[in-house]
Amino acid sequence: MGTATPSNVKIKARRMNFKHTQNKPRYWHHGDPFLTHALTSASIFFPEGERFFIRSVRHFEKEITDPQLREDIKGFIAQEATHGHEHTKYNDDVIGQGYRFLKPVERQVKIGLAMLNKYSPKQFQLAVTVALEHITSIAAGMLLAHPELMEGVEPEHQEIWLWHAVEETEHKAVAFDVYDYIGGKYWIRVLALGLATMLFLPAVFFLLSRFLIMDKKFNRKTFRDLKDYHEGKGHIFKELGAHYLEYYRRDFHPWDLQNQHHIDEWKNNNKTFA
Ligand SMILES: [Fe+2]
Ligand SMILES: [Fe+2]
Repeated sequence: MGTATPSNVKIKARRMNFKHTQNKPRYWHHGDPFLTHALTSASIFFPEGERFFIRSVRHFEKEITDPQLREDIKGFIAQEATHGHEHTKYNDDVIGQGYRFLKPVERQVKIGLAMLNKYSPKQFQLAVTVALEHITSIAAGMLLAHPELMEGVEPEHQEIWLWHAVEETEHKAVAFDVYDYIGGKYWIRVLALGLATMLFLPAVFFLLSRFLIMDKKFNRKTFRDLKDYHEGKGHIFKELGAHYLEYYRRDFHPWDLQNQHHIDEWKNNNKTFA
């Protein structure tokens, strides 16, 4: 099988040059340290993670003869390369605010992924990419489907996160389709998601805790505010959990969730980037 991306979804990198994260309020997510740092903690992993995704897909590119899937791979690589570039600037701005502990973290992520490249089978590396693309695409889908989650966020920060969410949605099936094309095994795909979840989520929470401790915000007030913020949003996180679990179905495909209308809505509201 080739590509299963809907024909009206075009995977093309947009030229972006965000300059927006400098000189903004430290807690750009409606003044909330927890949510601000939670998103930033994920961002710290993006540039190296996305370069790993590119390497793992590129390794199999020569085996793909389906012309549309080859086009999709090109678009996927271009989009992930742009994300890495923009999030590097974003992360540098955060480090520039005094969070120096992030520098060695970035180095460790780079070394860890280089070791994975060197010592693990290529099919497993691609499965890890497919798994992490699932996590990013369901998180992206949640941001696009529930604009209330971005209420009170500094407009420039909204821009980068929503742009990234749109492109993650556009290319959400590319690594999956490559994995399917090369005959990737089901059990490796699901094992990779289990491992990726066990490593990535605690790593994000660990970074988030370091941010909060450094800011002296690891306290009852922060968690009470977070609880208040989430009041009435429980259904969103139930939805997210359900989408996450879908992946473990043998016949799962990322486009089972037909959410391309959110891409169109974003394009209509962002004509200059679309
Ligand atoms: Fe990305
Ligand atoms: Fe991606």
